[in-house]
Amino acid sequence: MKTILYPGSFDPVTLGHMDIIQRASSLADRLLVAVLINPNKTGMFPPQERVEMLQEACAEIQNVKVIMFTGLLADLARREQVQAIIKGVRGVIDLENETTMARANKQLGGGLETLLLPSSSKVEHISSTLVREIAAFHGNVDEYVPACVACRLRER
Ligand code: COA
Repeated sequence: MKTILYPGSFDPVTLGHMDIIQRASSLADRLLVAVLINPNKTGMFPPQERVEMLQEACAEIQNVKVIMFTGLLADLARREQVQAIIKGVRGVIDLENETTMARANKQLGGGLETLLLPSSSKVEHISSTLVREIAAFHGNVDEYVPACVACRLRER
């Protein structure tokens, strides 16, 4: 069974992330979406809530499993026996950052490969920071996040 790993902060999951999840899920038998727990960073949503939002957003996609992780990505990849990591690339800045991370993960993961998927143009301007900022000023985030996330942002 071929498994691809899609890691990130997902604070919160956006339609940009969903674009990658939908497309990546068709490339493997199983897509493991991993929410990073960073003990040094307090995000907007606690990791458990990020997982719940991802699970709700991915409910219709059969082969997606959402997990939480802390530690090195290469160790998680080894533990879960994944064939590759996948990351979305929105532009040249992402490309530079992701290339550096891909090389490090290849070294740390004993040859672990990273697939870089260009974002669909209609979502390439979206980031979690932008969503948090719009929500903080009570703006409308319906075009940026799945409905379940928009709902939680309105509740806050
Ligand atoms: N669509 C929309 N937004 C996207 C996106 C996409 N396709 N891809 C990335 N983003 C956004 C995220 O929303 C986030 O936005 P924000 O900064 O506004 O919140 C930003 O890009 C960065 O993504 P994020 O998921 O937070 O971080 P990352 O891609 O830099 O890496 C990990 C996160 C978890 C993969 C990385 O930190 C990691 O591997 N950590 C574990 C420790 C480790 O192994 N370190 C060595 C790695 S070489």
